[in-house]
Amino acid sequence: MDDPVVRAATAADRQGIVDALTASWGGTTVVAHGTRYDASSLPALVAEKDGRLVGVLTYSIGDSGLEVVSLDALPRRGGVGSALLAAVTVVAREAGIRRVWLMTTNDNLDALRFYQRRGMRIAAVAPGAVDAARAVKPFIPLVGAYGIELHDELTLELWTDNTPRP
Ligand SMILES: CC(C)(COP(=O)(O)OP(=O)(O)OC[C@H]1O[C@@H](n2cnc3c(N)ncnc32)[C@H](O)[C@@H]1OP(=O)(O)O)[C@@H](O)C(=O)NCCC(=O)NCCS
Repeated sequence: MDDPVVRAATAADRQGIVDALTASWGGTTVVAHGTRYDASSLPALVAEKDGRLVGVLTYSIGDSGLEVVSLDALPRRGGVGSALLAAVTVVAREAGIRRVWLMTTNDNLDALRFYQRRGMRIAAVAPGAVDAARAVKPFIPLVGAYGIELHDELTLELWTDNTPRP
């Protein structure tokens, strides 16, 4: 299979991004670490194969570094997630940002495996953070992937200059 082509999203990608986020998460709202994002309005990278949208990564830049707010590959296991994560690391490095970080949930064993295989480290665990997010976003399910109860958020991080954490 051909490698995906990754590029910065433009206004013309917005509907495709909304559709991809809705297919994965039921909408464009992402609630993480107590912050509510409309992911469709964030800066984004898109991955394409044969001119077709096959992946979306949205991000937000702040005092803590570059936060990956959402990452979705459609379909999975075709190298799309790896290409998007590598590309956003370049975005951070070129902007002089040392830390790339993201939140995932305790049930998302596939994502935990994926990120750690790509050098990210678990930096924090917030027990009960998903339960708090569910109060804002009631359609977050009680049971997540692999039938695991969905309760906690994990922070993963990557240092773009490969230096040890400060
Ligand atoms: C997590 C996620 C983004 C990973 O993206 P992905 O495109 O599936 O990831 P990749 O294909 O790049 O890599 C996944 C595995 O597939 C393998 N793979 C890649 N291309 C492959 C191919 N052509 N054939 C077989 N395996 C392949 C990779 O080597 C990797 O395995 P490894 O970790 O042992 O190296 C994706 O699973 C996803 O969209 N999940 C749902 C949404 C989600 O949970 N997002 C994260 C929220 S924090």
